[in-house]
Amino acid sequence: MKVTVFGSGYVGLVTGVCLAEVGNDVLCIDVDEAKIANLRQGIVPIFEPGLEDMVKDNQRAGRLKFTTHILEAVAHGVFQFIAVGTPPDEDGGADLQYVLAVAKSIAENMMEYRVIVDKSTVPVGTADRVKAVIEQVQAARVVDVPYDVVSNPEFLKEGAAIDDFMKPDRIIIGTDNPKAEKLLKALYAPFNRNHERIITMDVRSAELTKYAANAMLATKISFMNELANLAERLGADIEKVRNGIGSDSRIGYSFIYPGCGYGGSCFPKDVKALEHTAQQMGYEAELLQAVENVNNRQKQVLFSKVSAHYHGDLQGKTFAMWGLAFKPKTDDMREAPSRVILEALIAAGASVRAYDPEAMLEAKRIYGDKPGLTLVESAEEALTDANALLVVTEWKNFWSPDFDLIKASLKDGVIFDGRNLYKPELLKEMGFTYYGIGRA
Ligand code: UDX
Repeated sequence: MKVTVFGSGYVGLVTGVCLAEVGNDVLCIDVDEAKIANLRQGIVPIFEPGLEDMVKDNQRAGRLKFTTHILEAVAHGVFQFIAVGTPPDEDGGADLQYVLAVAKSIAENMMEYRVIVDKSTVPVGTADRVKAVIEQVQAARVVDVPYDVVSNPEFLKEGAAIDDFMKPDRIIIGTDNPKAEKLLKALYAPFNRNHERIITMDVRSAELTKYAANAMLATKISFMNELANLAERLGADIEKVRNGIGSDSRIGYSFIYPGCGYGGSCFPKDVKALEHTAQQMGYEAELLQAVENVNNRQKQVLFSKVSAHYHGDLQGKTFAMWGLAFKPKTDDMREAPSRVILEALIAAGASVRAYDPEAMLEAKRIYGDKPGLTLVESAEEALTDANALLVVTEWKNFWSPDFDLIKASLKDGVIFDGRNLYKPELLKEMGFTYYGIGRA
């Protein structure tokens, strides 16, 4: 089948590549000429395991192409996926200008039936706005080309995006049109093997499902972080509590890991956007506000522990920081807790020596030569001249470090473990002063 994907960012690229992988003829379009030129040479702008090889292989096989030409893009696919960004606007809502601009381009150029698929995370009602744009253009063009607008949200996790697309938990198709439903079911058939994963529903429910999923996961995390802060004050250990509640199948073990707050491009933005949507409807989403507030506070927790340990005097101190990305297996630092922590440390007069296995270039891009921040080449190098170590992202190579080396390197022998990677008793035995999250 012929597919066009607008937007060669995270979602668009993964969607395009995975649809090509199963044999479709995919054309990806982006306004960024340099990005498209790079992609044609197999250079992928983001770090995602497996993605670059798939971009190369599928191009070589002739199933995947890249363009910047609108006319070509609209003429290509019966499916026109919209996978452009929906950044937050000033008041926390999702900025739809890019989505609506694509809708306009499609409408201006379409000559025959098209299924327009909203893949970007968009507020409830966006499909209707896309339709309105298309109607307007068609009226101006004095044409009546048939089309349908479908909501088909993505549920990709960074670092596991290819697997999530190829073996999805569910595929949500939001439409009330049987023709569009049939076409999308055919497109997704290769990903719907072994058991039924396709869930069809009306457009608005599909749009809300995406926000509901992310808000629920963010809520689980904020809930655990709140409990962790309470556990600390009560002399309990949140890791034991986590085990204790996770064993209840109604609760489950996943997404109940306390830490230094959730980051990334989705949870913070989507919780805010849903809050904003609620507000527009005259409804105050109190729980969502609390989820967001708890998370903002949680990003400060590790810094507060450092500050408390040094009685508020961080002037001239040096801290090793392991982990900058908002989570492992990505170089993404959007809304990463590391940023809040390192900025707070530097503002308090300390220096930070930071290392991340993938995010060094991204950190350089964001911070340049920020005074007080040294970006180093290895975890070991971060420890040089440091008073204490902060572990901020749970990359596997931080799980079992050489504690003797850490001990020998750190001036004060203190570890602030923002991801509860280490056993407090063991570290104590080795002579460290250990701070975790939610562990008395
Ligand atoms: C998320 C959703 O999981 C995905 O379905 C959606 O499509 C996009 O948003 P992503 O942002 O890539 O994916 O990351 P995810 O793995 O969900 O982690 C989000 C954040 O929550 C990270 O900062 C992570 O460290 C944090 N987290 C996750 C916790 O603090 N505790 C947990 O138990 C789980």
